[in-house]
Amino acid sequence: MKTVLITGSSSGFGKATAQLFLANGWNVIATMRQPQDGLFAASSNNLRVAALDVTDARSIRMAVSEAVNAFDGVDVLVNNAGFGAFLPLETTSDELTRRLFETNTLGTIAMVHAIVPHMRQRGSGTIVNVTSSVVFNPSPLVSVYTATKTAVEGFSEALHYELAPFGIHVKLVEPGYGPDTKFRTSMMAFNDANSFPAPYQPLLDARMSNLPEATTSLEDVANAVFRAANDTGATLRYPAGPDSVASAKMRAGLSEDDFLASKRGAYAVPRQ
Ligand SMILES: NC(=O)c1ccc[n+]([C@@H]2O[C@H](COP(=O)([O-])OP(=O)(O)OC[C@H]3O[C@@H](n4cnc5c(N)ncnc54)[C@H](OP(=O)(O)O)[C@@H]3O)[C@@H](O)[C@H]2O)c1
Repeated sequence: MKTVLITGSSSGFGKATAQLFLANGWNVIATMRQPQDGLFAASSNNLRVAALDVTDARSIRMAVSEAVNAFDGVDVLVNNAGFGAFLPLETTSDELTRRLFETNTLGTIAMVHAIVPHMRQRGSGTIVNVTSSVVFNPSPLVSVYTATKTAVEGFSEALHYELAPFGIHVKLVEPGYGPDTKFRTSMMAFNDANSFPAPYQPLLDARMSNLPEATTSLEDVANAVFRAANDTGATLRYPAGPDSVASAKMRAGLSEDDFLASKRGAYAVPRQ
């Protein structure tokens, strides 16, 4: 029986992913900053719920050591923990920028750093890093969040060559717009109706009128992570959700100039 360690399993995509692996008979180490009783409907011998804050080196050491010993080693690590902020760069504090990078980027790298010696010793393993469709479809008002996820994409692509000789796969799951997550409300919470800077209001209005009709469900992401975790082939990227798949195709099918022009059109941004 295989074992998966998942970060950020208290809600949203991470929780749905933990449930899907459990339903498929995997051992699951569901980690979260504050472990909660009864989070998963059925308690199971295959489930361990453990504390993990990906910004805390000691917490990472303890959680990874616990995970490695909980069952028969860790086959798959899913780096899902993350948060976003929807606001103009001008009103993004240095402190918020640092927190975004510490969680989304450095937290992911630190988890990979902690698990690689274990996987290398076993001669096998899969690392699935959850990024976002923003990496191929960047939009205004999420520049720093986009930077955190784009960094993870470059990191993962480079690393997938580096770890392949040791039987370790690295995969990227790129979810689209997932309205059924805490992420979406907390992303907007960095603004409120009164504090959103007026000069940027047209971009916010354009964003709101450009929301995709088909959005990304919890199951879309859980299924993509499960597929990536079980795929021993060479595929690196898994766009997840109909909107993410559509924008990945659109980006691939257009020239750089045409893609940028279509995006400028959607946001009524002048050509410079
Ligand atoms: N929802 C979307 O539209 C969307 C789109 C593309 C990509 N994503 C990505 O998908 C991933 C999951 O997000 P979600 O949408 O499912 O949102 P979510 O429901 O807010 O889940 C995020 C999870 O990350 C955890 N987390 C945050 N900071 C952490 C830290 N320092 N250490 C450990 N865990 C931490 C949260 O735990 P707490 O309960 O402790 O806060 C929560 O379990 C994120 O990486 C996000 O960037 C989301």
